[in-house]
Amino acid sequence: MYVDLRSDTVTRPCPAMRRAMAQARVGDDVFGDDPSVNRLQEMAAELVGKEAAIFLPSGTMANQVALRCHTEPGDRVLLEEKSHVLAFEAGAPAVISGVLPGPVPSVRGIMDPDDVLRAIPPQNVHFAPATLLCVENTSNRGGGSVYPLDVIDALTRLGHSQGIRLHLDGARIFNAALASSTSPARIARDFHTLSFCLSKGLGAPVGSLLCGTEETITKARRVRKMLGGGMRQAGFLAAAGIYALEHNVSRLALDHDMAHRLWEGLVHTGWEAQEPETNMVYVDAPGAAGTVARLRDAGVLAIATAPDRIRLVTHLDVNREGIEAAIAAFAKIRTYGSA
Ligand SMILES: Cc1ncc(COP(=O)(O)O)c(C=O)c1O
Repeated sequence: MYVDLRSDTVTRPCPAMRRAMAQARVGDDVFGDDPSVNRLQEMAAELVGKEAAIFLPSGTMANQVALRCHTEPGDRVLLEEKSHVLAFEAGAPAVISGVLPGPVPSVRGIMDPDDVLRAIPPQNVHFAPATLLCVENTSNRGGGSVYPLDVIDALTRLGHSQGIRLHLDGARIFNAALASSTSPARIARDFHTLSFCLSKGLGAPVGSLLCGTEETITKARRVRKMLGGGMRQAGFLAAAGIYALEHNVSRLALDHDMAHRLWEGLVHTGWEAQEPETNMVYVDAPGAAGTVARLRDAGVLAIATAPDRIRLVTHLDVNREGIEAAIAAFAKIRTYGSA
């Protein structure tokens, strides 16, 4: 049995979640007839303080549908330079929306509003106009980092003052809310849309939601259909999402505690690692691929995100024993083999 710290997406549904899925009331969601999907969408919209929500198969589709709803081909989308939308969605903004990325630098994934302002081009026929700003909270490649609320507010003020629409990639919005002692609704308050994932820390097998105004979500339904994301008896999946929202949000605190313990243990054994703000620990490891292979031999799964960086993520399928085992594996590698 491995301690699997590659991602918070590796979790498997618990027996109670499986029962909820098996017993779900379903209908054809493309006709809007699936009671479980409808309930999940209503729950999601209420939870994040938006008028409406749409259930989608993945976080990638949720983000890309948002981009398509907010932009026209030839527009510029401002986003953090290592953000998921820009770096890890297979070039979808170019293909699906025909937009130009306007990358913004960051410190640990957190953009400075002044840098965003600098990335906005003058209004002049030579330039692709910036019409959308995407913010990723928590920031994955930033180390699971969390935007301070005053930075969120400065970014949304900037967007509104410049007539730029705002999308929040809140794949891990519940981790962000917990870490900043606020609610997802407060974080999302001044964004036009928010996407969040059920299949990350919340433990559902599939699914994300895009939330916004009725008008935007109506448009999103057409874009989802166009992309082949209209699902029929999707209530089986929605039931897992409802279970996740009802049972697995508050326990994210445990993931944050485990990440912190992991970080402490690694630093204690001589590794350099970024102190976690949520459920991710990024470790400096020259020769990261080799270290990942040695960790696997020692029973721990991790991901090399760069030649010199390893990512470890805590989630509901690891426990404190597993974390101690991972620390012991790192200690062993440090002692017996070069990193
Ligand atoms: C910040 C962020 N946004 C979006 C996604 C995309 O989610 P999915 O894998 O469901 O497409 C991920 C996936 O890891 C992510 O970390």
